[in-house]
Amino acid sequence: MEKSYQKLLSNNKAWANEKTRVEPDFFDKLSKGQTPEYLWIGCSDSRVPANEITGTNPGEIFVHRNIANMVVHSDMNMLSVLSYAVEVLKVKHIIVCGHYGCGGVIAAMGNKQFGLIDNWLRHIKDVYRLHQSELDAITDIEERGRKLVELNVIEQVNDLGKTSIVQNAWKNKQDLHLHGWVYDINDGIINDLGVNIKGTDDMLAVYKFD
Ligand code: CO
Repeated sequence: MEKSYQKLLSNNKAWANEKTRVEPDFFDKLSKGQTPEYLWIGCSDSRVPANEITGTNPGEIFVHRNIANMVVHSDMNMLSVLSYAVEVLKVKHIIVCGHYGCGGVIAAMGNKQFGLIDNWLRHIKDVYRLHQSELDAITDIEERGRKLVELNVIEQVNDLGKTSIVQNAWKNKQDLHLHGWVYDINDGIINDLGVNIKGTDDMLAVYKFD
């Protein structure tokens, strides 16, 4: 009986063959290194694959994913990815991409215990607290969830701007823009929330580094 994971390995061979057929030096070029212009911070959700939904190839996007696309400033994993992307790869754009129907965000809106993950979801509850009156005023639970997905993305973009890594890049006149997007799993379309941050001008003074 064929094990389901074997399908992945045979798919991989077919994919590699097809890539080489279309562009014979595809892997030669990639093996020489990467110069991606974008860092993607997205949700781990299997329905939101960064390259596929943006029509990009290997080599084009540096990717970090976690539950509910969070920028948690004590997360060594996120910080290491961010540092490497900004300081070494010198990406020009960092995109935080959330998605409607995010299980992490929906779970964070409720009161049920899920175990260890509750500690991760706490960061989303903290975002809720910041916008409690606006969110509580939305009576439709699904609508409220969509709003929290958007507010959470905006908050994570702001949190990127609070890191010394991003602020140092701006101070060094590095071309670095932060974006907040939401992917709609109902139609496959990404909505740009219009948060486009390229400096500390609008930031609360206490977060600005000299
Ligand atoms: Co999600």
